[in-house]
Amino acid sequence: MTPIDRELEAEAERLLRALMHVECDPRGRKWNYETCRAIAPLTLEINRLKKEKDAIILTHSYVEPEIIYGVGDFKGDSYYLSLMAKQARAKIIVFAGVVFMAETAKILSPDATVIVPDRGSGCSLADSIDGDGVRKLKALYPDATVVCYINSTADVKAESDVCVTSGNVYDIVAHLPAARVLFVPDRLMADNVRSELKRRGVAKEIISSDGTCLVHDEFTAEQVVAARAQFPGLKVVAHPECTAEVAALADFVGSTGAMMKYVKTTNAPYFLMLTECGLVGRLEVEAPEKNFIGGCRLCPYMKLNSLEKVRDALAAPRSDQIVTLDENLRRRAAHCIEKMFELTPTAT
Ligand code: 13P
Ligand code: SF4
Repeated sequence: MTPIDRELEAEAERLLRALMHVECDPRGRKWNYETCRAIAPLTLEINRLKKEKDAIILTHSYVEPEIIYGVGDFKGDSYYLSLMAKQARAKIIVFAGVVFMAETAKILSPDATVIVPDRGSGCSLADSIDGDGVRKLKALYPDATVVCYINSTADVKAESDVCVTSGNVYDIVAHLPAARVLFVPDRLMADNVRSELKRRGVAKEIISSDGTCLVHDEFTAEQVVAARAQFPGLKVVAHPECTAEVAALADFVGSTGAMMKYVKTTNAPYFLMLTECGLVGRLEVEAPEKNFIGGCRLCPYMKLNSLEKVRDALAAPRSDQIVTLDENLRRRAAHCIEKMFELTPTAT
């Protein structure tokens, strides 16, 4: 066996140890030695390129497991990855996620070259409103504090007073002094904020724009009721991008990071994850003793990421893969994210 063969074999074994429990694979792959051996040349090449170029790879939990566990340096939800981007000292940040996440990384780490593997990796929420749309709403409600969910474009952030993530949205909105909040772009999350404020006894008017997440909007109350009838003891875990009707039926509602923590620390025979399937894949790796019943859905944007695109973007990024922002816009957008970090300095 040549040294190269030995290196490939060791890499395949490393990948197998990480991925062997993944059953919820977006492409229906079985993670055995052969599957791992087939991608080993790519993961080795990417990890070599990272060192050569002083690059790090941030991976959202929804991207394919071989990216997260094969080449990722940091994995998690939007809050955690934004914090990692802000603290990063690497020359290059590759963001395996979607465009608004890479844009947020560039806002927070302006000196780094921030790369998005596929420029088409949008987000139905971020794409639902632009800065002009927010300006029009602000003209209608001039007294409102503008809160943007992080799933928004840089020009929307530039119009906002404070940014929130799925992990801190309830606490931040509840503690704002304003009586009226303009919340963009997620209408369903705004509904969930209203319910939570009511539960906490906080009086505030929440006005929202009309975006929804094409993944989370699809889960239904009927689905939850049917699953509970079929699986006694089931725990239902939902993301706050789900409808208020679904969230009301869940045992736990939180960011993808909080959902993972809940599953890892909860004893139950089955879990129904009302979120993107990538999170189930992560839990199969990190909590292989837990049982998940079907129900999760794929985000077509997150699934545009691939090892090949990460490799190509690292080796020689095309101009469309490099995130650029007008400096004035970037500074204005940074303001609302810095405000978020001031209000929630650590992940919840
Ligand atoms: P998290 O920040 O909870 O990971 O959410 C990001 C997202 O896009 C959910 O659809
Ligand atoms: Fe956007 Fe929904 Fe995909 Fe998250 S899952 S990136 S909110 S479209």
